Amino acid sequence: KYDRNNHNNAIAAAIARLNETRAGDALCALPASAPKGLDLYLAVRDTVTTALDKSYRYERTKSEKKPPNSLKRLYLWIADEEGTSLAKQALRHGQAIAQGVALAKELGDLPGNICTPAYLADQALALAKVFPALRVKILEEADMAKLGMGALLSVSSGSRQPAKLIVMEYRGGKKGVKPVVLVGKGLTFDAGGISLKPGPDMDLMKYDMCGGASVLGALRAALELKLPLNLIGVVPASENLPDGDANKPGDIVTSLSGQTIEILNTDAEGRLILCDSLTYCERFAPAAVIDIATLTGACAIALGRFPSGLFTADEELAAEILAAGDRSGDRAWRLPLWEEYQSLLDSNFADMANIGTREGGAITAACFLSRYTKKYPWAHLDIAGTAWLSGKEKGGTGRPVALLVQFLLARSGEA
Ligand code: BES
Ligand code: MN
Ligand code: ZN
Repeated sequence: KYDRNNHNNAIAAAIARLNETRAGDALCALPASAPKGLDLYLAVRDTVTTALDKSYRYERTKSEKKPPNSLKRLYLWIADEEGTSLAKQALRHGQAIAQGVALAKELGDLPGNICTPAYLADQALALAKVFPALRVKILEEADMAKLGMGALLSVSSGSRQPAKLIVMEYRGGKKGVKPVVLVGKGLTFDAGGISLKPGPDMDLMKYDMCGGASVLGALRAALELKLPLNLIGVVPASENLPDGDANKPGDIVTSLSGQTIEILNTDAEGRLILCDSLTYCERFAPAAVIDIATLTGACAIALGRFPSGLFTADEELAAEILAAGDRSGDRAWRLPLWEEYQSLLDSNFADMANIGTREGGAITAACFLSRYTKKYPWAHLDIAGTAWLSGKEKGGTGRPVALLVQFLLARSGEA
């Protein structure tokens, strides 16, 4: 069946083969015969993003560098002249998305001893060097303490790497127009803390900063495309390790919102660094906040690795995000955020516990975050199942950069 997936698989296979030859140029006529449901714009954009994604290679920590990709130039053949300007727009969008995806993949793939909270902060500053329209502010632990971010700081106190709160502002829209805010979990290594994770596959927890990486990737694309909108990225970056100063089960901390939290499991740390970041977002009077996090193994159990989990009480925002997922091919699937689940977070000693029951774990995690997002339209994407691949294909996916950029394109009237 010649559908969108198989179209992209064909492009990917062709690029892989071409890179094994000595061909420097290739001509691709596939977008011209794209399958039903793929308009010319999407056929070109998918071809561009797939081809560039296939050319991504992780090399940073390999001593033997592979020879560079032989394929240097890919020409796309468009059947009719009228399609040219649309195809050029698709090319531009596709290249920007692919660069954002590559940035997110590389940050994910880097090991925890290189990609630390400070490294992520430096990456944000480096992005601002390339794109002067980006303003970056790094909040240090002392700044966070002054604000009262007791939940976030309780996580980083178990680690020797100081936490960073990375705040990135791009004001590409009209003055006074409320910004979209993207908040990404930047947990650069999650050992679980005192509630230590089991050993097998623990290395994968270097990917626990992929939400933060996707915020950097989406911002990069927005800057590249000079999208006419106001956009803010917030990335709380920390490690979660079992030190003498680490959170202990039963500890109670006070969040920036004033609400107290009983930490029954120190491995449910993502919500602790996110809740203070989400409260911090109130100062931006956001049009919408989307947080992106590798938040729960339960989400990956529920949905598998194809869709990201979407949680929101806002019907319009839900429709917008699901549509952006469908159009970009980087899909999400909505899960409930009903009131009934909230009581699972009850605590005898604090305003709430940081975990619910094992059942519905992705939902109670989202319920926890919902208690910090009452002041603006908000949605949560759990990317635990989609941010990386394991096994032989182990590596970051760069998701959900494509979904986020599609959302931003639509919001700025460029889609
Ligand atoms: N980063 C993990 C979530 C995760 C686990 C993502 C495995 C992908 C694969 C998160 O910090 C975590 O440890 N969550 C716990 C929550 C639990 C203690 C309520 C989980 O999912 O087990
Ligand atoms: Mn954890
Ligand atoms: Zn985590």
